[in-house]
Amino acid sequence: MSIEPFDAVDVIKAKRDGGAVPEPALRWLVDAYTRGYVSDAQMASFAMAVFQRGMQRDEIRVLTDAMIASGERMSFASLGKNTVDKHSTGGVGDKITLPLAPLVAVFGVAVPQLSGRGLGHTGGTLDKLESIAGWRADLSNDEIMAQLAGDVGAVICAAGAGLAPADKKLYALRDVTATVDCIPLIASSIMSKKIAEGTDALVLDVKFGSGAFMQNVDHARELARTMVQLGTDSGVATTALLTDMNVPLGLTIGNANEVRESVEVLAGGGPADVRELTVALAREMLALAGQPDVDVERALDDGRAMDSWRRMIEAQDGDPDAPLPVAPETHTITAPASGTLTRMEALPFGIAAWRLGAGRARAEDLVVHSAGIDLHVKPGDTVQAGQPLFTLAAEDAARFDRAVEALEGAWEIGAADKVTRGPLVLERITAEG
Ligand code: URA
Repeated sequence: MSIEPFDAVDVIKAKRDGGAVPEPALRWLVDAYTRGYVSDAQMASFAMAVFQRGMQRDEIRVLTDAMIASGERMSFASLGKNTVDKHSTGGVGDKITLPLAPLVAVFGVAVPQLSGRGLGHTGGTLDKLESIAGWRADLSNDEIMAQLAGDVGAVICAAGAGLAPADKKLYALRDVTATVDCIPLIASSIMSKKIAEGTDALVLDVKFGSGAFMQNVDHARELARTMVQLGTDSGVATTALLTDMNVPLGLTIGNANEVRESVEVLAGGGPADVRELTVALAREMLALAGQPDVDVERALDDGRAMDSWRRMIEAQDGDPDAPLPVAPETHTITAPASGTLTRMEALPFGIAAWRLGAGRARAEDLVVHSAGIDLHVKPGDTVQAGQPLFTLAAEDAARFDRAVEALEGAWEIGAADKVTRGPLVLERITAEG
């Protein structure tokens, strides 16, 4: 039996009492946890100590590094193309990856978008794409490389189990121990996967507001700065946009309906906010890839982004022309009075869609691709009494009661002068400040 150089209880105590954990001890903790020597109970206790006491920048860097070292590191160097990825901290109706990846690939940049599934009220990109008949999320590393090297240029697929396995274990533990919403833990979790993935550049969409991990804009800014610094220090050119997630993005929340809306954006239409954010993130990604002046909007309007989408879906055995699943049951909420929709909170809408079956409560649950919510109005829109506001869709009408309950108090009709919304993209954060 090998002798362990540290004792988990000492490491937990150091953090519990507000100290910084020395680099060798922190590296050992992550490694010993991945090996199963440090127990879930000890790691949960450490995570809670970090939640309460925080971490210094240097500790966050070491934690990230240790999580990267727990698994494989991919490299796209042999592609001979710039690679650029995007990561969103998650929100309600956030389907931006779907139009974004093929749009950026139009310009000859490789987009390796290794994505996750949804948990709780935030949707998952893979769940959305699995609404498309035949589409495959699980690709081998060779398939990923071939798709990026060839004329497709973009891949959205599941991150392999070999990438930052320490994070996979720790994230599952945090999910059930109320330690998810903690800046050092979120930053190291996200960045360990992105740095291990081997992308040259990364754009972070860091969300703030009711439907985001970080409700408070100052916390979101701190998270963005921490992640930009971690990426930059590891040689990944990283910038972040701070974006508003107080209101759901676009007019759809779910899976199949979000694919439908993404295709509208790829056809040059779609809701203004989805197009605006897609264009802003594409510009940011292309600037990092050395193409700051290309006309992104034209590629949406002239069909090139749509052609790129079709190639990407077909390369993963999906049929871009297959009809998307439609739920057999719907329930429409209508306006009780005339006026203006003055308020709409993202989080309850995310919870309602989740209760309809669009999301999962446990990692092993299946999502219902046809379930979700179509929004007929957004804040600022005028409504007439009796007009349809939101249509809920599910496989089983028994799901409507709890979804409607989630929406109670989540929206309001009032006087037009009560509607104020800040910009969708609030700030751009770079390593320079
Ligand atoms: N997404 C992640 O990958 N990790 C977190 O900690 C939070 C969101």
